[in-house]
Amino acid sequence: MGPAVARAMELLVALGEVFEAERLIPIEGAHISGVSYKNLGDAGLELLEDLAELGARARVRATLNPAGMDLDLWREMGIPQDFAERQLRVVRAFDRMGVEATCTCTPYLVGHVPRRGSQVAWAESSAVAFSNSVLGARTNRESGPSALASSIAGRAPLYGYRLEENRRPMAVVEVEAELRSRLDYSALGYHIGRTLGSSVPYIRGLPRAGFDELKSLAAACATSGGIALFHVEGITPEADGFGEGDLRGLERISVEEGDLEEAASRLSGDLEDPVFCLGCPHCSLEEIREAAMLLRGRRLRRRLWVFTSRGVYGEAERRGYIDAILEAGGRVFRDTCMVVAPLREMGWREMATDSCKAAHYASSMGLGTRLISLREMVEEASH
Ligand code: F3S
Repeated sequence: MGPAVARAMELLVALGEVFEAERLIPIEGAHISGVSYKNLGDAGLELLEDLAELGARARVRATLNPAGMDLDLWREMGIPQDFAERQLRVVRAFDRMGVEATCTCTPYLVGHVPRRGSQVAWAESSAVAFSNSVLGARTNRESGPSALASSIAGRAPLYGYRLEENRRPMAVVEVEAELRSRLDYSALGYHIGRTLGSSVPYIRGLPRAGFDELKSLAAACATSGGIALFHVEGITPEADGFGEGDLRGLERISVEEGDLEEAASRLSGDLEDPVFCLGCPHCSLEEIREAAMLLRGRRLRRRLWVFTSRGVYGEAERRGYIDAILEAGGRVFRDTCMVVAPLREMGWREMATDSCKAAHYASSMGLGTRLISLREMVEEASH
């Protein structure tokens, strides 16, 4: 099947040997990370262009994680020209390989929704946790190269979360705290990940968790603990399959309000002039609607940036939400986010956000960070 498939197979076989996989299995789709030129550098760019030149082509549906900039509005973001040119070459190389330039970490919000039980190869830790837990698909925490190789070969090694026995709960989390905002769900995920590491938690006490709350929870627990799969009683699709007998003898933790405050305070300092950021993981239509409603009739005095996918942006624009945000003085960008953009080169020093994942990575890059709910964000940014 040619040199590109051979190269992909070499990587997958090596990976399978490391994890003692019994065999390779066919996959139905892939989601590929490692798209921002900030992370790839010239070596990564050349590798992708070489693969495209060799004739590499995705054999299954494959989508792309965020790039380092809005592919159209990069000048408005303050992205240097040189960075932009290289970033566009990265996206072109993926395009030549038949990978859809969705440039989002929420492919499941723009039509790439694996069915329950299907084997897929997804990279991007937040999307992996969401896909396994909320959609009930099966993937390991793939890297950018392994997800790309799987898309080219149409296969993945059979190990880890692809096997039924590894999807069983390993710990029980009783949530006693009242969760009022998506920030609380993010803090909960961050706390669970820090406490349990890469476990498979069975979470109780979240009767009202919706799609957006689960998205925040997935991103945060994947960040602090490397969690790739969780079950929420009464909500996520595989949770019903486990009874008291399956949970007996497992490690148990309970989460109080103080635990959430403690998790959030780890990522919160005093800031002078932060950029207020919404959209980690990329905003859903409902989140953009909520931001637009809160901003209606206000005039922002500080920078408030919203990140989303092109698919969601298009619909939000049609409904007038984007105009409402722009009229208040906010900005909305697609294809990128407040972590994978070259923040330092853009002159950013501080960020306030409602996402523990974004604050975690921004703080590891040396930025000052603060956690703040959307409501507080709108209040503060307009005073
Ligand atoms: Fe997505 Fe960027 Fe957050 S890739 S999960 S918005 S760090």
